Amino acid sequence: MGVNIAGRSFLKLLDFTTEEIEYLIQLSQDFKNLKRTGTPHRYLEGKNIVLLFEKTSTRTRCSFEVGAYDLGMGVTYLEPGTSQMGSKESIEDTARVLGRFYDGIEYRGFAQETVEELAEKAKVPVWNGLTDDFHPTQMIADMLTIKENFPQGFHGLKFVFMGDAGNNVGNSLMVVCAKLGINFVACGPKEQMPKAELVEKAEAIAAERGSTVTLTEDVDEGVRDANVIYTDIWVSMGEPKELWNTRIKLLKPYQVNAEIMKKAAKDAIFMHCLPSYHDNKTEVGASVEKEFGLSELEVTDEVFESRQSVVFDEAENRMHSIKAIMYATLK
Ligand code: CP
Ligand code: NVA
Repeated sequence: MGVNIAGRSFLKLLDFTTEEIEYLIQLSQDFKNLKRTGTPHRYLEGKNIVLLFEKTSTRTRCSFEVGAYDLGMGVTYLEPGTSQMGSKESIEDTARVLGRFYDGIEYRGFAQETVEELAEKAKVPVWNGLTDDFHPTQMIADMLTIKENFPQGFHGLKFVFMGDAGNNVGNSLMVVCAKLGINFVACGPKEQMPKAELVEKAEAIAAERGSTVTLTEDVDEGVRDANVIYTDIWVSMGEPKELWNTRIKLLKPYQVNAEIMKKAAKDAIFMHCLPSYHDNKTEVGASVEKEFGLSELEVTDEVFESRQSVVFDEAENRMHSIKAIMYATLK
């Protein structure tokens, strides 16, 4: 039987089966081919979506906008601090209003509960564009990128997340890897690991798929023979900048550098959801360098710019996969 997720919200990967996730990855590949060959695909002409951002964005916002335009849809972008939501209007009322105007709602913000409540009340599909807990649209792009590099299939690959493994991206990767039968390793300090409750869920899913979930503080053990080394920034959006000091101390041993890449498998790829502090060319990067004397943080510039790095393919895949998610839930 075919997979059908029309009318569903996309809030976290725990809500989706392996087959549904594989379908979204395949659909993303199909949309990538259509875009590459210049084949029009205005399949959702006449529909409109709204993008509600309470945190900043480049990739996610642009992916929703370009994806929507390519599908023939109209788009409204509400930038952080410019809607009534939160300060003057409850989430519930906002959802009931936007649900009458739009066919779909994207939300990026803080609490996972907010996006869950929007979805419950809006009566149209809601897409989670990142919360403090999860970043599910990123996962479809990431898995497409892995599929492009390892066409033999996901099962049995070793995927290592280095650093702040309990953040929204680390949590989501642990779940999606478990769902797809990829052996997942969170390699970082015990203070920054995913919460025990989520680890248990991921372990149970992985057991069904014949794969593993491992948490380790040991870098050598973590990265040995890895096929994918992934990292993310050490202080996420919404976290106070005062955390840099403790995070640098905790996470510096987990910086992805050439030495670490050498311990991985020969065909290993480097991935990062971006944005990245791989040099001091950003305001945050420069101020961290001034205060702590480090010009590269979660990944060295050498690895970021190396042949093993697929970060810009990964970024491009955000557009194709967000288009697939919108199409599959709105068609
Ligand atoms: N990876 C990602 O979500 O990027 P943006 O914050 O630019 O959307
Ligand atoms: N963990 C990062 C991901 C950005 C795409 C953050 O939340 O800032």
